[in-house]
Amino acid sequence: MQPLAEKKIVLGVTGGIAAYKVVQLARNLTLQGALVDVVMTAEATKFVTPLTFQALTHRPVYTDMWQMSNDADISHVTLGDRADLVVIAPATANTIAKLAAGFSDDMLTTTVLATTAPVLLAPAMNVNMWANPATQANLATLRQRSMLVVEPESGRMAEPMVGVGRLAAIERIEAEISALLGRVGGPLSGWNIVVTAGGTHEPIDPVRFIGNHSSGAMGYALATVARDLGATVTLITGPASAPLPLAVQVVRVETAQEMHAAVHAAVPSADMLIMAAAVADYRPQTVAAEKIKKTASGGEQRSLELTHTIDILGSLRDTTSVIKVGFAAETRAIAEYAQDKLRRKGLDLIVANDARTALGASDNAVTVYAPDGTAWEIARQPKAQVAAQIFDILLQRWPTPRRWTQSDTTDSHE
Ligand SMILES: Cc1cc2nc3c(=O)[nH]c(=O)nc-3n(C[C@H](O)[C@H](O)[C@H](O)COP(=O)(O)O)c2cc1C
Repeated sequence: MQPLAEKKIVLGVTGGIAAYKVVQLARNLTLQGALVDVVMTAEATKFVTPLTFQALTHRPVYTDMWQMSNDADISHVTLGDRADLVVIAPATANTIAKLAAGFSDDMLTTTVLATTAPVLLAPAMNVNMWANPATQANLATLRQRSMLVVEPESGRMAEPMVGVGRLAAIERIEAEISALLGRVGGPLSGWNIVVTAGGTHEPIDPVRFIGNHSSGAMGYALATVARDLGATVTLITGPASAPLPLAVQVVRVETAQEMHAAVHAAVPSADMLIMAAAVADYRPQTVAAEKIKKTASGGEQRSLELTHTIDILGSLRDTTSVIKVGFAAETRAIAEYAQDKLRRKGLDLIVANDARTALGASDNAVTVYAPDGTAWEIARQPKAQVAAQIFDILLQRWPTPRRWTQSDTTDSHE
């Protein structure tokens, strides 16, 4: 499936040196199925030719609003009218100033003024131009008018300078585009979803810990799918090796105790909690203040006293204001253990998987169980697709957030 299929995106390109990077953005959005109409300012065409964008988007590139009058089907406001989203990348200080003042003296500013679609700006400029109070005041005005700004990054610039002003990474801009398109029309628009992911590290001493093989990939895939479907996502992650999803709120934790605190802080404003993290069941009873020495007493043998970690889902057993989805990773009797956990912890759904093939892998095969005995098999495939299918099931069961309606019927908790 193409995530941006048929989405009409106007990509405004202005006269900054970072225009060359946006060629890749135009290509990526097109490959994801979006209909990308590139609008370039006159200055932008001095950095990259319209032909480059035209060849990659397979669509005409607009540079002159007066040319429009020759075409019966398209006028100076048509692109803005029909857009699902307007993105300006790079956005120069000059264009930002013109937008703040409400100018419409070229095709791009006219399109922005004429659109009711969301507008996303990715500024890029010299460090001092960025820090200039005029630029910051203009951006504040535009934010106030609900335009979304993907902040520039700090780093080496085209001029021999280092500082804030470099265009945000293309993948960050893409993630913000997906999230914004989800929020305006996606099926999870209006939902607040908390996803936990990764493993936990339970310290033994200042340099050692008990951990597990969780890569975070399953939870991160769930967070990404939820974001693209329009949810506001809080991702609470323990240590993990998979790349973090962008355009979601990330809370980093180390231990089960920290994850417990983060989940309890997030749940009151959540509609759904998905606990995909591989939380340690045991932790060392005491944590040594100093590194335990190899030569310390005890000879060859050394034992570690363990105690149960806090049970996060168990602590939410009586919380019914949030839809609770658990994960069970087992190595045997998977269905039996998973359904037992579903009942004991008063969950609304549980996703069962084989710990031997799920943890640290890029693919997964899962079975989803509901308290009423319904089961859904999801065949082995990349975790992103497994996550998408899990959300198909969730949306089937809860078409609207529980916090607002009591539409679900899964109240068969023991
Ligand atoms: C080599 C060169 C690089 C430039 N890079 C930037 C830039 O990265 N950001 C910016 O705001 N302006 C930059 N400018 C200045 C803009 O091109 C100038 O303000 C222009 O009027 C912008 O027009 P536009 O906003 O209509 O595209 C650059 C100018 C030159 C000559």
